[in-house]
Amino acid sequence: MYDVERIREQFPVLRNRKIIYLDNAATSLTPDRVIDAIVRYYSMHRANVHRGLHKLSMEASKVYDDAHSRVASFIGAEPQELIFTSGTTEALNLVASGLKLGKGDPVVVTMMEHHANLLPWYRLRKEKGVEIRFVPVSADGGIDMNSYQEMVKGARVVSVTWVSNVLGTISPVEEMKKIAKENGAIFGLDGAQAVPHMPVDVRKLDIDFLAFSAHKMCGPTGIGALYLRRDLAEEMEPFKLGGDMISDVTLDGYLPAELPTKFEAGTPPIAEAFGFSEAINFLEELGVENIMNHVRRITKEAVKALSEMKKVRIYGPAPEEERGGLISFSIDGMNCHDVAAALDELSGICVRSGHHCALPLHKYVLGVDGTVRASFYLYNTLEEVETLVNTLNDIIG
Ligand SMILES: Cc1ncc(COP(=O)(O)O)c(C=O)c1O
Repeated sequence: MYDVERIREQFPVLRNRKIIYLDNAATSLTPDRVIDAIVRYYSMHRANVHRGLHKLSMEASKVYDDAHSRVASFIGAEPQELIFTSGTTEALNLVASGLKLGKGDPVVVTMMEHHANLLPWYRLRKEKGVEIRFVPVSADGGIDMNSYQEMVKGARVVSVTWVSNVLGTISPVEEMKKIAKENGAIFGLDGAQAVPHMPVDVRKLDIDFLAFSAHKMCGPTGIGALYLRRDLAEEMEPFKLGGDMISDVTLDGYLPAELPTKFEAGTPPIAEAFGFSEAINFLEELGVENIMNHVRRITKEAVKALSEMKKVRIYGPAPEEERGGLISFSIDGMNCHDVAAALDELSGICVRSGHHCALPLHKYVLGVDGTVRASFYLYNTLEEVETLVNTLNDIIG
């Protein structure tokens, strides 16, 4: 049985602070056991990895390497295909800078991307002359699949968000992947809002890359992962160069190390990897499907209640449709930041307001400066949703 009260007891912030935390799309909270894993590294195994033959280094290396396997198995990948990065942002930068793209090569994204899946491609447009094609989306989050079909023709890369961090739209990735593959394009996903919330199997999905962040799935900040299909990883250039990522260096050049070390130059986020691995253990013990169902239930209630409120406009899929665990909305005549501040002040509710790092979506699709976003995770309750609704009613007056 999914016992939300027992789960909540394991989160120090929920024990220590009188808050309602609904900002999980920005970052999740961390359970004791993940914090303990990080402390265990610093207090028991503190050493660099892959650099020493002494006990501590061997222990740290083992846990760090095991963490690759742990996170890889969580998404159905091989450990060699799982690169630790500082997060989704670095993972997508790694992909964009490592692919051998040149002048006129088309890259397809959608109009609802987070900046992390836009700016790395913008740089390639500026520096190498790649062409970026933006697939239109509607305010209810629908991707224009006819345009997509056209835009993928001749494309080298398709890189799209799996779950929109603003609209909650769940992209039709199976269909999008199929079309991309039929057209010979590399197909990858920004999984920042998807991997924490649903079972993922990259083999079944048959995709080329997937980026996600530990801090949105009960893990520490400062670490994330990139799944990179092996053949693609073999031919790609590493984004960072330096220590650890080589098998040989001469005065003429270097030979890269085996995967995934080829892409992990320098001292990696070791303590964070300890924590990430423990976060995966935690999620798997709860059951990702149970988490998904719990979050769905909470989100459904929130969407239903908010869509019935006067003066509230919600964005994204219609209430009866499936969506990720978040809801963005605005209140007629009120600035989104004022609404967020009032929620915090009146009921200790933490939400995010603004453009959520998706300015093109707000500017060209939604036509608003910003929205208020409530986002849910495995420890949220229906009572918290009720408090959100009641407080919004008080704010609206
Ligand atoms: C859809 C999406 N992509 C990318 C990111 C960037 O993640 P990070 O800041 O962990 O690199 C986020 C974070 O909010 C996101 O929601």
